[in-house]
This record gives sequence, C-alpha cells and structure tokens, in this order.
Amino acid sequence: MNEILILSGKGKTGRRVAAQLDARGVPYRLASRSTAQPFDWYDESTWDATLAGADTAYLAPPVGPTGLTQAGKFVAQARGLRRLVLLSGRGVGSPGRDFAVYDGQLALENVVRATDLDWTIVQPAWFAQGFSEDFLRYHVLAGQIRVSAGDGGEAWIDTNDVGDVMTTALLDASYIGRTLAISGPRVLTMTDIADELTAATGRPIAYVDLSPQAHVAELVEQGLTQEDADAVRDLFAVIRHHRSEYVSTGVEEVLGRPPRDFDDWARETASNGVWG
Ligand SMILES: NC(=O)c1ccc[n+]([C@@H]2O[C@H](COP(=O)([O-])OP(=O)(O)OC[C@H]3O[C@@H](n4cnc5c(N)ncnc54)[C@H](OP(=O)(O)O)[C@@H]3O)[C@@H](O)[C@H]2O)c1
Repeated sequence: MNEILILSGKGKTGRRVAAQLDARGVPYRLASRSTAQPFDWYDESTWDATLAGADTAYLAPPVGPTGLTQAGKFVAQARGLRRLVLLSGRGVGSPGRDFAVYDGQLALENVVRATDLDWTIVQPAWFAQGFSEDFLRYHVLAGQIRVSAGDGGEAWIDTNDVGDVMTTALLDASYIGRTLAISGPRVLTMTDIADELTAATGRPIAYVDLSPQAHVAELVEQGLTQEDADAVRDLFAVIRHHRSEYVSTGVEEVLGRPPRDFDDWARETASNGVWG
C-alpha cells in the first residue's frame, strides 16, 4: 500500500487517524500548511506535489463556503487518487434534517460522489474535543460557555471515536460507497454540558445563551472573519432549532462497541490538566 495522505492532517481528526495508522504500521503522510511539503487549500500551486504518489486520502475539509468550494475543486482534479474518505457533518443531505448551512458540505459530498473514486463519507456529530482542543476550550477556562445554541441538544461525539471510524473506513473496502452518520450515545443541551464540565473540573461553568447576532459579534471580536463567524452562528442554529436531537448508530456499526459518553470523556480530559 502507498502512503495514505491525510489532508488537514494536524487537526483534531487527522492526528487521531495518524495515531491509529501508526498503531497498525500503515504508512501515511500529513498535509497542511506547516508540513515539510506545504499544502494549502487556498493555494492551488501546492496541490500537485501533495498528491504525488498518493492513491488513498483522508480529507478533513476547511469550515466555511470558500474552503469547502476549494476542497471540491481539489477532489475533482485529484489525479492518481483511487480511494477517499471524506469528513462531512451529521444531517448533511438528510431529508428532514438538512439545513442551508450544510449547502457547502453537501456540494462537496456531491462532488465526491460524482467522481469515480472509491469513496466513503463519514458524517459526525459535534466533537467533544471542541471544549478541549478548539475555541470552546477558552470558554471552559473562563467559566462561561457563550454560544447561541438556545436550549437545543446535540449528541456530542468523542473525536477518538471519529478517528477510529475514519481509520476503519480507510482500511476496510466494505465501506466503499457508504455514508455513515456517527454520534455519541446521548443528546445533551448546553446546560447539560456546562453541568457535566462543572462536575468534571470541580469549577463552576455556566452556559450563557447568546442571541445569534451577539454570538457573531463576539466571534468577530475574537478574530474570526465575518464569513467564518456567520458559518459558526448558522451551525449553532441547527442545535438552537432542535434539529440535532437524535443519536446515530454508526460507531457501534463500524467498531462493534458503543461510542464513549461525554461524562466519561470530560472526567478523563479534566484529569489530563487541559482545563488547568
Ligand atoms: N468540530 C466539530 O464539532 C465538527 C463536527 C463535524 C464535522 N466537523 C468538520 O471537521 C472539519 C475540520 O476537521 P478537524 O476538526 O479534524 O480539523 P481542525 O482541528 O480544524 O484542524 C485543521 C487542520 O487543518 C490545517 N489547515 C488549516 N488551514 C489550512 C489551509 N488553508 N490549508 C491546509 N491545511 C490547513 C491546520 O494545520 P496547519 O496549521 O499546519 O495548516 C489544522 O491542523 C470541518 O470540515 C468541520 O466541518 C467538525
């Protein structure tokens, strides 16, 4: 087998796919702006060299419409590639669950489906690691989760489960042509999350329900572009409108074990010192 190419490889899911491939002795190559061979979704002059010699790829696309369009362009011109596992989002293209904010991800899924690649598409729920490895970590540290999720719930998934499913999908041809929805085992509102994090950290953590407008204003103030801030607001609107309140069974189907619960994840993560 040639090296597996891990696009956006230093991210939350790419790192975990890499660790799982390491454990199995499968060769891989990371590709991002900071790898030895730099790869940038927005700089097409970096694409050919990144693809050279790769027949299998894991693709974690950028967030936001422009980045998703770039990822679609990349896939459509990816000569030499034979097998692709795409990270998408839960609800994308699902009748009754779809939302306009998913248009970019759906367009990318459709580009992938229209190629003659052997593809697998994995649609995860929101990652618990958003609270430990991404921007929500700072909310936990500040004792206030300030987002616009209303009283809606989501079946948050441990990103280690995402990495395990992605790795199985990359290595097992029986998942070719499949779209797999995966989530954690329980729907939790932001108030539930704040309570779980309070219990795990031993420090008070509150949920502050922002209006969508106030949420965007805070995100822009924190340095996001207007486009990305609007995209984050619209993603939270899916939760706010109670459209994520369901559990998906993909982890159990693929891995033969249940997904990890948020409570278990939060307690272990707290003991690792990530929240001080
Ligand atoms: N977070 C969630 O709850 C959730 C849930 C479902 C689906 N998703 C999807 O997951 C995807 C993100 O995956 P992830 O969480 O694994 O990634 P991530 O943690 O956001 O990391 C992305 C990685 O991509 C690289 N990167 C950033 N900008 C780049 C660019 N312009 N060109 C090339 N590489 C770039 C970065 O490394 P360098 O700095 O080295 O470039 C970074 O390590 C998104 O499509 C999102 O919609 C997320």
